[in-house]
Amino acid sequence: DKGGYKHFMAKEIAEQPAVVGEAIRHYLPAGDDSVRLPGEGLDFTKVDRLTMVACGTAYYACLTAKYWFEQLARIPVEVDVASEFRYREPPIPPRTAALFVSQSGETADTLAALRYCQGKADHILSVVNVPESSIARESDLALPIHAGVEIGVASTKAFTCQLTVLLILALKAAADRGALSPEALADQIATLRGLPQLMNIALDGAEPVHRAALQLAEARDVLFLGRGLMYPLALEGALKLKEISYIHAEAYASGELKHGPIALIDPTMPVVVMAPRDGLFDKTVSNMQEVLARKGKVMLISDEDGIDEAKDGVWSAIRMPKVAPLLAPILYALPAQLLAYHTAVAKGTDVDQPRNLAKSVTVE
Ligand code: M6R
Repeated sequence: DKGGYKHFMAKEIAEQPAVVGEAIRHYLPAGDDSVRLPGEGLDFTKVDRLTMVACGTAYYACLTAKYWFEQLARIPVEVDVASEFRYREPPIPPRTAALFVSQSGETADTLAALRYCQGKADHILSVVNVPESSIARESDLALPIHAGVEIGVASTKAFTCQLTVLLILALKAAADRGALSPEALADQIATLRGLPQLMNIALDGAEPVHRAALQLAEARDVLFLGRGLMYPLALEGALKLKEISYIHAEAYASGELKHGPIALIDPTMPVVVMAPRDGLFDKTVSNMQEVLARKGKVMLISDEDGIDEAKDGVWSAIRMPKVAPLLAPILYALPAQLLAYHTAVAKGTDVDQPRNLAKSVTVE
């Protein structure tokens, strides 16, 4: 049941404030400023390093979480795509926790990577949407994301719920390891509880994304740029766009622009720049100006301060509510998804069932 929406993807995008709120309530029960994990949980004082493995969108959730675990909890994190990890057979040092992220919990490569770690990693964790799945059953600790059934092949609400659960886990790791005081943890939790409301505001103000998408539909290639936490999101934005609109899209860390991709810039090439007004904003904007100087067509996704400061010369500006920098990738996922969605609708593709793709990839 599409609940009155034209596509499951549109419904699932709209559900995100509710399901992210659900995930938050499960791990951060009201009236308590601590993180509650299922079962025996995990004591991060026993963990020296984290290896995260997944495919596709779930892999981009892992890349985002690397920034959180490293910045908040000071735990070194390695991230790999499952199809590479499993055949590389990497050494797993003692005191490693291996973490597998999968919406379906049945992705063949991710499951094989998990099995490789059994008996080698001290802890096997998973972040899944389907609690009865193989990946959940074969983990020491499975953390459900509470997104509800996701039908659209393009993952949307599972991604933002994966990010939410991974951020909560990073907060728990930081608290366990003494990297975050109880007061600082309580502040972070309070901020996170406000996220669904910001997501509602972002969805309500999404009309400019729709308008911009009508023009994006004409493009042959699109570039996504971001720095720090916005870099994995740029990758996710590019994946979403190519997956359902069949437009070739690539993402780069903004700082990599002048190491090659800047040669692609011309007036026909839209460049989507994801840049909340955070500590890295000036750096990203200076890369954006390099694009503008070569007559690139820039779509800037930022907050009010960022847009006021940097809007000169941009083709389209998408205004997001102001958000704590750590939460920005979850909020900015919404315009990235909507951009892909409206572009695909404008092109008339099969949004929920794009060609050549399956919802769950159970063969390698
Ligand atoms: O079920 P999983 O999360 O393990 O699936 C992983 C990928 O196949 C999946 O995220 C895929 O990239 C999506 N179609 C992206 O929208």
